[in-house]
Amino acid sequence: MPERKDQERFIHIIVSVAALGGLLFGYDTGVISGAILFIKKSFSLSPQLQEIVVSAVLVGAVIGAVTGGRLADRFGRRRLIILSAVIFSIGAVATALTPLISLLIAGRIVVGIAIGIASFIAPMYISELAPARVRGSLVSVNQLAITVGIVVSYLVDYAFSGLGAWRMMLGLAAVPSIILALAMWRLPSSPRWLVARGSMDKARNVLGRIRRSSEIDAEVKEIERSLEKQKGSGVLLSHPMLRMALFVGIGLAVFQQLTGINTVIYYAPTIFEFAGFKTAGFSILATVGVGLVNVAFTLLAIRLIDRVGRRPLLLVGVAGQIVGLVILGLAFQLHQLARFIGYIAVASLAIYVASFAIGLGPVFWLMISEIYPLKVRGAAMSLATVVNWGVNLAVAVTFLTLVGAVGRPGTFWIYAGIGIAAWLFFYFLVPETRGKSLEEIEDHWHAGKHPRELSRQPGRE
Ligand code: BGC
Repeated sequence: MPERKDQERFIHIIVSVAALGGLLFGYDTGVISGAILFIKKSFSLSPQLQEIVVSAVLVGAVIGAVTGGRLADRFGRRRLIILSAVIFSIGAVATALTPLISLLIAGRIVVGIAIGIASFIAPMYISELAPARVRGSLVSVNQLAITVGIVVSYLVDYAFSGLGAWRMMLGLAAVPSIILALAMWRLPSSPRWLVARGSMDKARNVLGRIRRSSEIDAEVKEIERSLEKQKGSGVLLSHPMLRMALFVGIGLAVFQQLTGINTVIYYAPTIFEFAGFKTAGFSILATVGVGLVNVAFTLLAIRLIDRVGRRPLLLVGVAGQIVGLVILGLAFQLHQLARFIGYIAVASLAIYVASFAIGLGPVFWLMISEIYPLKVRGAAMSLATVVNWGVNLAVAVTFLTLVGAVGRPGTFWIYAGIGIAAWLFFYFLVPETRGKSLEEIEDHWHAGKHPRELSRQPGRE
């Protein structure tokens, strides 16, 4: 069926382009770990200023996520992706060329704003174009791109570290961002956003390129019908179960970060140093290894997420993170294990990251693109995203202080304890969205049903 093949190819192009947003997200959060070593020398930075340079991106991301939601509802997903790519390019070039530390910090905030926007707009755009039966894996391609971006940034840091070329490290991000802006220009708007705006013909045109002709009418009708139900203001808070959707999204956002993933992504070399590895070479190698485990298990999640569903991956994943953290804490606590601590640290971090990559990594961004009503999707996703970046920032700036205050074992056990709370939250409150259309998920909230009942209904696709 050539029509079908062409459509699939087109969807894959759309997903690959939009996921460049994820690549930039990963690259720009990872690149600073290596670059900061040289920036510090160039500008003779105090530890406080170094911290500011590193966390400026996170502050920017919070700003971007706050402002992005309403823009997404108003101007559309496609335009907002283009805008974020343009902001990325400006930030990347500015940070690469700046003669002043103040401009470097400002540039990092600008880059952060773009990341904050891209982090939720790319999953939203993909989710609204994807057929329900493969939506999980298509949206998770964005998470894959984040993990690839992180590994690429480590490798670029490594490649340029001999020359100390931190400007190259930061500036290179301009290349994919320019490609993203140009490629996105040629791609269609989200059909759901078009229907919400009343642009029916355009929506049908877009659907005509990605769905069988027999499916188009039914899909447009279904979107219209669910919009009809959302008439009236304050829709997001008007219904207890919609408040529940908001609560679930925020819970996922908090726990994705509060279980400590970015202490590993940002501080893996420090953790390996705690475990007795002194050579920089080993630290870099082990850090790249952690990054590759992240990529590999995200690939596995992509294969599984539409087959076994979101909930099993989430629950197994968080359980695995808890196991990794408990072992890591034990390794630091028990003196009998001192001889093996290096190996145990590597193995437990690998278990921990692999578990994040099959669960909370992809599932958080996917779920927040699925569970909110179309009419307020931008605003609601942006709220969950703000919380995610805000907690990310809080964990990043408190990790070393926490280690100082409660010790290494205590720190990892605190994250493990939060993991247990996360597991219970997910078990009782997270719905199974596998195979459901976005409109079926909305209907479920409007019917006032509990999130967990969703999985028990037969899907329509
Ligand atoms: C998280 C990031 C994290 C990354 C690691 C993303 O889903 O939001 O905070 O650094 O995964 O792969």
